Parts: sequence; C-alpha cells; structure tokens
Amino acid sequence: MKGIVLAGGSGSRLHPATLAVNKQLVPVYDKPMIYYPVSVLMQAGIREILIISTPDYLDNYLAVFGDGAGFGLKMSYAVQPRPEGLAQAFIIGRDFIGDDDVALVLGDNIFFGAGLNDMLARARSRQSGATIFAYAVDDPERYGVVTLDAAGRPLHIVEKPSRPQSRWAVTGLYVYDNRVVDIAAGIKPSARGELEITDVNEVYLRRGELHVECMSRGYTWLDMGTHDSLLEAGEFVRTIQKRQGQLVAGLEEIAFQQGFITLAQLQERGIALDKTDYGRKLLAIAAEHA
Ligand code: DAU
Repeated sequence: MKGIVLAGGSGSRLHPATLAVNKQLVPVYDKPMIYYPVSVLMQAGIREILIISTPDYLDNYLAVFGDGAGFGLKMSYAVQPRPEGLAQAFIIGRDFIGDDDVALVLGDNIFFGAGLNDMLARARSRQSGATIFAYAVDDPERYGVVTLDAAGRPLHIVEKPSRPQSRWAVTGLYVYDNRVVDIAAGIKPSARGELEITDVNEVYLRRGELHVECMSRGYTWLDMGTHDSLLEAGEFVRTIQKRQGQLVAGLEEIAFQQGFITLAQLQERGIALDKTDYGRKLLAIAAEHA
C-alpha cells in the first residue's frame, strides 16, 4: 500500500501566521505539523509516501524529509498548483500509486490513541473497497458527515451539511483500493469548485463498498484549521509528552518499532537532535534496546 499526504491549500484561515509559510510546516509544539499525519501512515506500515503541496513550498518538505531514508521511508513529492480539492490527490498521484492500494491523510490532521494500529491494520487487510474513519463531534456541520444504520453500515455521507443527521464527522484519513484512481478521475467539481473526497466516498457507498471504522472516545482526533485549534493541538501534544514521557509522532521511534531503521540510525538521529527533549527521548529509546 502507498500513502499520500495532502499538504497544499492556501492556509488563508491561518493568516497572517501562514502568509510566508505553508500551513503544514507550522510547528505543533515541537515538530512540524506534517509529522503527525506522516506518523499515521507509518503506523499503518506504509513506507512509500507521496507529499503533495503547492509549488512555492515543496522544497521545504524536501528539506524536512529528503528522500526519506533517515526515517526508513521512500519519499516522493508532487505539486498541486491550485487547491482544487482533496480528490485531486489521486489524479496527481496516479503514477505514484500505480497498481497499488492507497491511503490518503490530510496534512492538518492529528490522530492519537491506543488501538490505532489495529484499526489501520483492519483497513489494510480488506481486499477491496474503501475505509473511512468517523469520529463523534459537537460541530459535525464543519465536516463530511456519515449517517450509520444500527449495524454501523453507512446510509449516506454528506459534505458539510447545514443540518447534520448524525454526529459522526469523517476524519481526514482514507484507505482505498486501486479503483479510487479511476473514480477520482470521473467526478466533477462541486459548487465550491473542488473535487470532493466525499463524492469519491459516495461512489463506494453506492456500490456497498464503503466501510466505516468508528473511533471511540479513547481516541483523539484534531484538525488544525484555525488559530485556536492549532494552539489546542500544540497544548495537547505537550501535555501527553510531558505527562507520559512519550513522543507523539516521534517518526524515528515509529520507524524503529516498525523495523524501517536500525538501532544505529535511531541513535544517530538522537545525537543529531540531542539539544531537544525529542532527541533525548530518541536516545533513551535506543538505550532501552541497546
Ligand atoms: O478534516 C476532515 C475534513 O477535511 C473532512 O471531514 C471533509 O469531508 C473534507 O472535505 C475536508 O474538509 P475541509 O473542507 O475542512 O478541508 P480543507 O479545505 O480545510 O483541507 C484539508 C487539508 O487539505 C488542508 O490541510 C489543506 C489541504 N488541501 C485542501 C484542498 C482543498 C490541499 O492540500 N489541497 C486542496 O485542494
């Protein structure tokens, strides 16, 4: 399975903070925002990742990840000239995806919680169809909203409904079989001029092939679309890291756990970052396994 991180957009809801920097590069406590969605793909065992961003900022992602080898990844990069919708990721990423299945994660989403790996493994193990991840929120009208029947099967899915019929927001993590490439190529722009991911999901739903994993209260899902939610996300990460002494989205730690990098690579990275708690934590993990 391949992975795509969509890290474009205009960032206008975070202006003036993002006038000169791409939103997904903004620090969320101690690391760039994009570390968090990349960590989700890595926890799903995905090593080949395409980062899609705007023409002005793609080089900055290259500076963060390079070819990915330091994280045991194979990183590719592609440009989205204009923010013409989430589903465009599959058109831009067509060659990258090839004949494989693909997971898409939005560059401004944080997922945290025990059991995330199992949930991702379940989605990966499905032979065909699509899997979306729903999370109960108080303000579903801000999101894609899915309504479920008593057995947890999706009845309908609507993008930002003015009168939501359920509290289940569709989070920015999606797992698809290879047909998504053709489905995305076949949809038309919405009234807001975007190729909507909700329209892609709607196609799978109509075919009876849309699976919904409901994330329980034990999980945290945050998007970072506003100044307040950005600050809250930073505070959340700081609280967990300080209290539990664990990294949230410690990419080298995940890479090591997944067997993507060696102990020596983990140590090397820890030494390079040893002026920070992040680096010292990597060194502590390495010491536990030495
Ligand atoms: O966060 C989950 C929600 O994301 C879902 O519930 C919605 O169904 C889905 O449409 C999307 O909602 P938004 O309209 O709030 O997405 P937004 O425009 O804020 O874009 C999400 C991220 O993707 C953001 O980091 C910018 C990036 N993006 C967005 C668009 C439209 C791109 O890189 N390219 C794009 O064309």
